[in-house]
Amino acid sequence: MKSLLLSRFLLLLPWGLIVILLLDTDSSRAPPAPPARPPQQAGPRRPALPPIYAITPTYSRPVQKAELTRLANTFRQVARLHWVLVEDAARRSELVSRFVARAGLPCTHLHVPTPRRYKRPGLPRATEQRNAGLAWLRQRHQHLPPPQPGVLFFADDDNTYSLELFEEMRTTRKVSVWPVGLVGGRRYERPVVENGKVVGWYTGWRADRPFAIDMAGFAVSLQVILSNPKAVFKRRGSQPGMQESDFLNQITTVEELEPKANNCTKVLVWHTRTEKKRPLLSKAGFAHLQSLLPGVWPVRRKQGKNRVLLNTVFYH
Ligand code: UGA
Ligand code: MN
Repeated sequence: MKSLLLSRFLLLLPWGLIVILLLDTDSSRAPPAPPARPPQQAGPRRPALPPIYAITPTYSRPVQKAELTRLANTFRQVARLHWVLVEDAARRSELVSRFVARAGLPCTHLHVPTPRRYKRPGLPRATEQRNAGLAWLRQRHQHLPPPQPGVLFFADDDNTYSLELFEEMRTTRKVSVWPVGLVGGRRYERPVVENGKVVGWYTGWRADRPFAIDMAGFAVSLQVILSNPKAVFKRRGSQPGMQESDFLNQITTVEELEPKANNCTKVLVWHTRTEKKRPLLSKAGFAHLQSLLPGVWPVRRKQGKNRVLLNTVFYH
């Protein structure tokens, strides 16, 4: 009887061990218990980021799509950025419409043509387009109750913008300012800051400007735009380089400006400009060039007002 029990026990022993082993490995494979959730934090939730509205005037030219592509590649990486693209044109162009549809960020596509009489060298550019952007912004927000969080920034289509710039401007309370690279006849232009206040301007061009700053050097809170409904860019009496001062004069004072970019010591935006096409030559200029350089051929003729203009090609 004893030996029968023993033999049964020995027979069952390996199976028992296998079962124990299986149970053991199973429990070791079991996923770890989820960590206990931290208790819900008391107090108010973090407010959403204020949106940034970037108003970009743009006009048709060979480099337009390249410029807009560079801009979209930057803007797409900025949280809560709304791009207001304003074409200098009588109607929306197909190129920009297609571009906007595929830009991959919130866009508003407006258009307004610059009157012909203002399309002259020496006159300010993009006045009507920036005003159209301002009008759109005011119309969209005027019926909503304050406070309306948001920041407005004029982003010309040929400049170069760092991502850090948008972090800086996001906290604008009224009007914020910072340096701009490659402008004002210097490597950069900047507000001079003392004890956290703007006290002057470092610039190589017209230091007498009330605000010696480029369009790319400031941002304005949406609240300031809404509470100054008449502040616009003006054509009358405005000279190039004075548009910024004329506009800022309507909404703020130098003492009120908020310096950004480490007290205006860091350049986070550059006034880059795309090289112009090779100039066209007059017929006489072309003949002269050809006499000097055999191998110069005309490739295109363009009827100017009184003369035939020629483009050149060097075939070796
Ligand atoms: C400088 C300033 O940086 C501009 O903000 C200012 O508008 C301009 O001077 C001025 O003289 O009014 P700059 O590089 O000389 O800029 O000007 P552009 O970059 O040629 O033009 C500024 C913006 O206006 C660009 O976004 C451009 O696409 C647009 N633009 C220019 C038009 O919409 N229509 C035009 O006929 C020319
Ligand atoms: Mn420019």
